[in-house]
Amino acid sequence: MTRTVKYLAVLLIVVLYSNTGYAKTNACLACHKVIPEEQKQNVTDCWLRSIHRQNGVTCDACHGGNPDVQVSSIKSLSNRQFDALKALSMSRSRGFIGIPSPAQMFDMCSQCHGDSVNSYKNSIMGGAYLDNKGGPSCTDCHSAHYVIIPDVPKSCEKCHKDTTGFDQIDPMNVNDATVTELSRLRIKLAEEKIKGKEPPLFPEELGSFQIGFVAFGAIILLFIIAFIIYILIEKRR
Ligand code: HEC
Ligand code: HEC
Ligand code: HEC
Ligand code: HEC
Ligand code: HEC
Repeated sequence: MTRTVKYLAVLLIVVLYSNTGYAKTNACLACHKVIPEEQKQNVTDCWLRSIHRQNGVTCDACHGGNPDVQVSSIKSLSNRQFDALKALSMSRSRGFIGIPSPAQMFDMCSQCHGDSVNSYKNSIMGGAYLDNKGGPSCTDCHSAHYVIIPDVPKSCEKCHKDTTGFDQIDPMNVNDATVTELSRLRIKLAEEKIKGKEPPLFPEELGSFQIGFVAFGAIILLFIIAFIIYILIEKRR
């Protein structure tokens, strides 16, 4: 019994310690929260609300560098101390990457999203991104710090004029087969549109007999109207 209590107490202390320890020692977050650039970039604010934060994917998981340097009170540091700390943390020798090149971006995300990167890398748009030919980066669609699943086709409109059928394909694996599928889809949609715009005079299910029957009815109706007009004119005389 006492053993269990002791065990729980130790566990509690470990949990509390590791929690406060984590919050204190992530140097990237501690410094970036208070630098003036944050006002403009809004990076930590976005990251704090993200699914990555919930899963412990910290700044250094993507950018590299050293998150374990000691930072206490950033605001009280002299400029020289600040710069030294920054250099120690955002250290190229510790693998720090600022804005990634396309190849670096793929490496960054493939640590944890290997399948997504593999299919995107071999797609038409992924190729256009890798070759700097205007294809979207992972973060153009998902954003870097507050990762989202983008709205399709709304998010595609900044680069594509015609987004017909985009909601029916996999945007992370657009290949030759997708393009064929898309043109087939578009022809089908265009045909449906034409049909929808000009409804046939008679519903398709009506056979010629019924059409004749309806026409006959219409003629009778016209006769009756003409007859009424005739009567009215006669009465006036
Ligand atoms: C002591 C403060 C401090 C620490 C610690 C720090 N940074 Fe920075 N970081 C800055 C400042 C200031 C800038 C903006 C001005 C500049 O680039 O010099 C910056 C810029 C950046 C940039 C943008 C680079 C670019 O090329 O535009 C990234 C990315 C970044 N930091 C990530 C990190 C990561 C990841 C860590 C932790 C491993 C970290 N920072 C730790 C102060 C810090
Ligand atoms: C999921 C990966 C990922 C995580 C986690 C991440 N970043 Fe970034 N960050 C990027 C990418 C990619 C860019 C390049 C710009 C882009 O693609 O939007 C970037 C750009 C930046 C920039 C340049 C300014 C800007 O808005 O483009 C700063 C500063 C920065 N990151 C700091 C941080 C800090 C601080 C953290 C932790 C609070 C962090 N990043 C967490 C991927 C990440
Ligand atoms: C250290 C691991 C790690 C890295 C690096 C990483 N992620 Fe994630 N990512 C996760 C985890 C964990 C989740 C949440 C669980 C899940 O959905 O798989 C997640 C979720 C996501 C989601 C789903 C969001 C949602 O709302 O469902 C997207 C999109 C995403 N990440 C994009 C990226 C991109 C883009 C990069 C590279 C710039 C990246 N991630 C880098 C671990 C990582
Ligand atoms: C053209 C926009 C676009 C680009 C570029 C893009 N994605 Fe996605 N991604 C999406 C959409 C849309 C979804 C939702 C797919 C769905 O619902 O089936 C998604 C889903 C995801 C998911 C959630 C898991 C899943 O499969 O449902 C992850 C993780 C992800 N993308 C990572 C990445 C990474 C990493 C890259 C870069 C290698 C990337 N994405 C490039 C649009 C994009
Ligand atoms: C940053 C710009 C950009 C964004 C955003 C973007 N694309 Fe693309 N897309 C391209 C480029 C560049 C190509 C390659 C054009 C080429 O080589 O013919 C392309 C090609 C395609 C193609 C094959 C050719 C075609 O035009 O039919 C499809 C399909 C496609 N994108 C779908 C999407 C979808 C779906 C989204 C949104 C989820 C999206 N794209 C968002 C730039 C973008």
